[in-house]
Amino acid sequence: VNVARTKFVCGNWKMHKTVAESVALVKELAAGLGAAAGKVQVAVAPPFTAIHAVAQALAGSAVEVSGQDVFWEVQGAFTGELSAGMLAEAGCKHGIVGHSERRQFFGETDETVNKKTAALLKAGLAPIVCVGELLAEREAGKTLAVVDRQVRQGLAGLTAEQMGKITIAYEPVWAIGTGKTATTAQAQEVHAAIRKILRELGGAVADAMRIQYGGSVKPDNARELMSQPDVDGALVGGASLKAPDFLAIVKGALP
Ligand code: PGA
Repeated sequence: VNVARTKFVCGNWKMHKTVAESVALVKELAAGLGAAAGKVQVAVAPPFTAIHAVAQALAGSAVEVSGQDVFWEVQGAFTGELSAGMLAEAGCKHGIVGHSERRQFFGETDETVNKKTAALLKAGLAPIVCVGELLAEREAGKTLAVVDRQVRQGLAGLTAEQMGKITIAYEPVWAIGTGKTATTAQAQEVHAAIRKILRELGGAVADAMRIQYGGSVKPDNARELMSQPDVDGALVGGASLKAPDFLAIVKGALP
């Protein structure tokens, strides 16, 4: 099935940028979209402190805002956490969940990913659900099994309609921040496998869902990766911190 899926490129800034730096960067992005404006979906995920100012600076532009994480409760005594409703009020349209750094350093599990995904949907936000294998898992031939488990458990209990609002980000952990990128063939293989799982879970909606690739996406490899039939965009870390690089990646999503 060849359904047209708008390419979706999101910059994940991680723990980088002050409020002032964030606002300066998104102004450059909004001004530099050129031919990609309206043709590629573009979002940035600033640190929490900068979200509100970034959303204000981007008002009326084609660049959208995402959270980097969220907590699943609506409110309460959860020191240090933020709800999906708070993200929405601050100007977010998206929320990243299950990033490998959250899984590695902050105890994220498939179960918490599932709760956070449901909480985002409930608040009207579009989840970007990250999955991906560790190097040892790839070397042991377990890549597809790991991704299968992460996708099924992350999306457990969702209706097909809810699934349609979700983007999956396939990020092989060995490729994140390492300068090592999956080959186009490695990426396409896993993306096609994810699409198959999504079809089992949600039927036809799977053909409209975007599956982003993440892991050392740069201006010089973005176009080739996103030219693969099941690679519908990118989740970009390091290269999203400089406007010229991120804009070049966004433009790599144009036909
Ligand atoms: P990277 O990060 O582009 O710096 O490898 C990607 C990510 O973690 O989302």
